[in-house]
Amino acid sequence: MQIREALIMGREFLNLHNIQSANLDAQVLLSKVTGLDRTGLFLQGERDLTAEQQQQYRSLLDRRAWGEPVAYLTGFKEFMGLDFVVTPAVLIPRPDTELLVETALEYLKKTHKKNPLAVDVGTGSGAIAISLACLVPELRVLAIDLSAEALAIARQNARLHRVEGRIDFMQGNLLEPMPPEMKGSIDVITANLPYIPSGDIPGLMPDVKDFEPHLALDGGLDGLDLYRLLIPGACRFLQPGGLLLMEIGPGQGEPARRILPADRWHSEIKLDLAGRQRLVAAKKK
Ligand SMILES: C[S@@+](CC[C@H](N)C(=O)[O-])C[C@H]1O[C@@H](n2cnc3c(N)ncnc32)[C@H](O)[C@@H]1O
Repeated sequence: MQIREALIMGREFLNLHNIQSANLDAQVLLSKVTGLDRTGLFLQGERDLTAEQQQQYRSLLDRRAWGEPVAYLTGFKEFMGLDFVVTPAVLIPRPDTELLVETALEYLKKTHKKNPLAVDVGTGSGAIAISLACLVPELRVLAIDLSAEALAIARQNARLHRVEGRIDFMQGNLLEPMPPEMKGSIDVITANLPYIPSGDIPGLMPDVKDFEPHLALDGGLDGLDLYRLLIPGACRFLQPGGLLLMEIGPGQGEPARRILPADRWHSEIKLDLAGRQRLVAAKKK
């Protein structure tokens, strides 16, 4: 089978299984199998696939047809222009989360602080912590997750991007692993913690609910349980004027602002490019 034929076959097969991005997914999976980028696939459309490549491609197409996300099949996901290793132990980083990183960057730039300190709670693949460390050369980051498997992937990503010397990975619940002597010293706390209301989980797309870790999704009754628990600790560890960034889902902006005591925080809701509520940015008074 030629590359060109394989692309058509893959697209039609995934279309039949109602995969929305059938064309792109067929290209990405064939790129993985051949080692060619997408332009290469078109330039070398007449090239024959080996029997082994055909078998690998069919097996990836089957798994995609069953709903497995492309990023778990390729093992990588791009975030903030960087490639991150992903496995089913971690949430696949979403483009929506880039707003959180951009907001943290803007704040760190404005403060002109020497050797700033950041904490990333619920670090998962390390996408937020590592992007920040790559983009702010003097930044030190403490990155926390409950999941040992997720932390192993985050460490791997930190090595890949050569920032492992500036990130301390710690396993534990929310800010519990933080050394008490760091109280009042942190510039930014980033948190993309699970915020999906428990009752919404069964209605999620199958590629999310059947393949991504539920520890990364379920935020309790209204989705804000973990943020409720995080806020008092965040207030203790941030320095005055420090910034807490909490990613949220559409409609959670006002409820999330209400759980921030108004005598201690100035807060605002930020919208993503699609105009949906995506972030609560809270400055400690
Ligand atoms: C929505 S994922 C976000 C992953 C990553 N920060 C990102 O933006 O792609 C949430 C992460 O929080 C972790 N997590 C869930 N509950 C936690 C808790 N109580 N303390 C620390 N981490 C937690 C999960 O294991 C998961 O890796």
